[in-house]
Order: sequence, then C-alpha cells, then structure tokens
Amino acid sequence: MGVVGLGQGAAQVLPTLYSLPETQLVAGADPNERMRAGLLERFPGTRAYDSLEALCKDPEIEAIWVATPNRFHCEHALTAMRSGKHVIVEKPMAVTIEETDRMVEVAAECGVHLVAAHTSSYSLPVRAMRKIAAAELGTVRSVLIWSYMDWMLRARTPEELSAEAGSGIVHRQGPHQIDVLRLLGGGKLRSVRGTMGSWMPERTIPGFYTAFFEFENGTSATILLNGYGYFMAGELMPGQLDHWRYTDEDRIALRKAMRSGSRDEEKEKEEFRIGGRRDPTAKGAESGPTPWGPVDLGMLVVSCDRGDMRHSAHGVYVYGDEGRREVGLGHLQREGYANEGGATLGAVMELYNAVVSGEPIYHSGAWGRATLEATLGIVTSAREHREVILERQVAMPASYDADMLLH
Ligand SMILES: NC(=O)c1ccc[n+]([C@@H]2O[C@H](COP(=O)([O-])OP(=O)(O)OC[C@H]3O[C@@H](n4cnc5c(N)ncnc54)[C@H](O)[C@@H]3O)[C@@H](O)[C@H]2O)c1
Repeated sequence: MGVVGLGQGAAQVLPTLYSLPETQLVAGADPNERMRAGLLERFPGTRAYDSLEALCKDPEIEAIWVATPNRFHCEHALTAMRSGKHVIVEKPMAVTIEETDRMVEVAAECGVHLVAAHTSSYSLPVRAMRKIAAAELGTVRSVLIWSYMDWMLRARTPEELSAEAGSGIVHRQGPHQIDVLRLLGGGKLRSVRGTMGSWMPERTIPGFYTAFFEFENGTSATILLNGYGYFMAGELMPGQLDHWRYTDEDRIALRKAMRSGSRDEEKEKEEFRIGGRRDPTAKGAESGPTPWGPVDLGMLVVSCDRGDMRHSAHGVYVYGDEGRREVGLGHLQREGYANEGGATLGAVMELYNAVVSGEPIYHSGAWGRATLEATLGIVTSAREHREVILERQVAMPASYDADMLLH
C-alpha cells in the first residue's frame, strides 16, 4: 500500500496499514517535508516521495489510499488508477457528482478496484445491526442519527473551511451518516429534504445540518449534525467522552480563543499530524477497553418491524418482543485494531478480499457516488427550500457480510 497525503486523516490509517499482516505499507507521498520525515521515523522501512506521481512509479505498490484534501480526491484517484493501482479514497469520495462519474469510469477502463472508504458504515455495530434486522427484527422502517459534536471547534486549515473546496461540514460528516443509513435501509434512497445552519460568527461555513430521507420502499431516515460543541452526544454513551480529543474545559477555552482571535489553528492542527504532540500514530493502532461507541456518527436508533437497536459499549442493544438484550461483538474484533470511527480495517479488508479472493467491492465507486449524491442533495435542498429527488442510488448487495457470525 501507498498513501498520498500524510496529514491528520492519514495518521489515523497508517498504523493499521503498517501492522496488518495482509498489507505492507510501502511508501507515502506528501509535498510537506515534515510529514515525509515523520512517516520515515514512525514507520521504519517505508519510503517517502514528494509527489503522487513519484509514488505511482513505485513498482512495489499495488494500491493507494488517497488522503489528500477533498478537492484532490478525484484527480489523485484518477492518476493512481491510470498507473494501474487500486484506490481506496477517503470520504467524501469527491466534491461533485461529475468527478465521481469520472472515477467510476476510469476504474472500469483501467481494470482496477475503487473503494469509497473510511465511513462509519464499516464499523462492526452498524454492520451487525443490518444482520440482526435481516435475521430477526424484520424490515428496517426508520433510521435516526443525531450527532452533537465539536467539529466546528477543531483546528481547521482555511481549505477545510471552504464549502467550494468541498470541505464544509456536510461534505466531511454527511458521508458517515448517509453511508450508515443507506447500509441499514438497503441503499436506494428516493429523496431528501435538508436544511443547513450557520450561527457561529467565527466560522462562516455551516456548522449544522438536518435532513429527512425517504427510501424507495418507504423507509425513512432522519439525520442531524450540530458541530458547535456545546452538548456532546457522547454524553449519552457511558465512557464515550473519556478519550475524546477535547474536555469540557478545552472546549470552553477554544471558544474564548476563537472569539478573541488568539487561536493559531495551523499550529494546533499540526499537533494531530505525524510527529505532533497528539500524533495518533504514536500510540499505534487503537485497541483495548475504550468503548467503541458511535464517535462522530452520533446516536443511532434503528427501528424495525419487531424491535429497535442502538449501540452498546462493545456491541448492539436489541429491544425486541422479549425485552432488551445486548449482542456483544467482541469476538469479531481483531486484536489490536480499531473497529469503530475511522474503520480503516473494514475498507482495507474489502480491497484485500477483492484482490486476493475475487470478492466484490461493496463500498464501490457507484456506492460512494450514491452517498455523495445524497450528501449534495442536502445542500441543494437547503438552498432551494425543496425536496430533492435522488437518481443515482444503488443497493448494497445482500451478500455483504455474509460470513459475519454474530454468535
Ligand atoms: N482530520 C481527520 O480526522 C480525518 C479523518 C478521516 C478522514 N479525513 C480525510 O482526510 C482528508 C485530508 O484531511 P486531513 O484532515 O488529513 O487534512 P490535512 O491538512 O491534515 O492533511 C492533508 C495532507 O495532504 C497533503 N497534500 C496536499 N496537497 C497534496 C498533493 N498535491 N499531493 C500529496 N499530498 C498533498 C498536505 O501536505 C497534508 O499533509 C480529507 O479528505 C478528510 O475528509 C480526515
């Protein structure tokens, strides 16, 4: 594997790519010399290049994880695929639908795999909910996702605060929620009605959205994301905020610093990249006793014909005709690898199984395009105050997770 863009997102992925027996992390590319030096130091035996083009020339690399800023996702995926590399692209898959069309076309032309990756839909509890509904609770009738979190308080580059560059909160967080609700509801949405809100003078881009979706079969989904960081949905999940990036005190201080204009966001962001004070690669791949929880995704409640489901700390609570029980998922966790949040493992294994065993890519380019269509539908609906009909939707094949055993 090679990785292009060695920033904060990549830092969450690199430990898994480095340590997973199925993959070998060969090299990374970034124009920033500090990021390259950090890669070489943290992951001995890797190589570092200053451009994607150089990375693509490395004959040992079969697949490239694209973790550059959103506006480069399409261009970088195309370059990698035209060099014969498989591609795993960070969410959002791209900025526009036209870009996703090109990505899907070029993957087919070049005969390589394209995975639209790294959303919360890869997390074990969400995947287990889909299986439990199919096996026991019946048709998914409603999906509710409420995320109250601190996205707007996190250190941001100017690029990340540009809706035009596809880096606002809807592009960045929408794919997590929409991939999840599409996976649970079968994939094929009919329409969306959304609104966005912007009420923080220090950040002019929207920090809030909410949307109502209807699937072709009548199932509905409601999502909400409030990134202003006052109430945190993690409070509803015991232990969830214990390992959060900011404490209550941090968030109070950040708001004050933003109001007084004294915050150095580039310096703070650097702390979360390789070599920084809070470098995620420094602690290796996350594991252990921390609750998986829904992290940024928010509180998820799935209602079916004969019951409801939501996250538990390491599994799923099922509320059925016989009351509540917990379906533990610890036996499905690979020792030493994070299953929640970033969900690197799920995306990498999807590509691995496709390359090695000829299995289908489930989070394919067409799947990612459908998620982006629904994401952009929120923006269009909010601007034009109307319901938006979705036309590029695809179903998740029933064979996805066929071998996932819940007991
Ligand atoms: N920040 C997160 O927690 C997080 C988590 C998951 C996914 N992501 C995704 O990762 C992507 C990048 O976001 P980030 O937060 O890591 O940003 P970042 O600014 O920390 O990192 C981006 C990196 O890309 C590099 N880069 C820029 N132009 C390049 C080019 N032409 N070729 C090669 N490298 C180039 C930059 O030097 C930088 O190191 C986004 O798509 C985002 O959605 C971010």
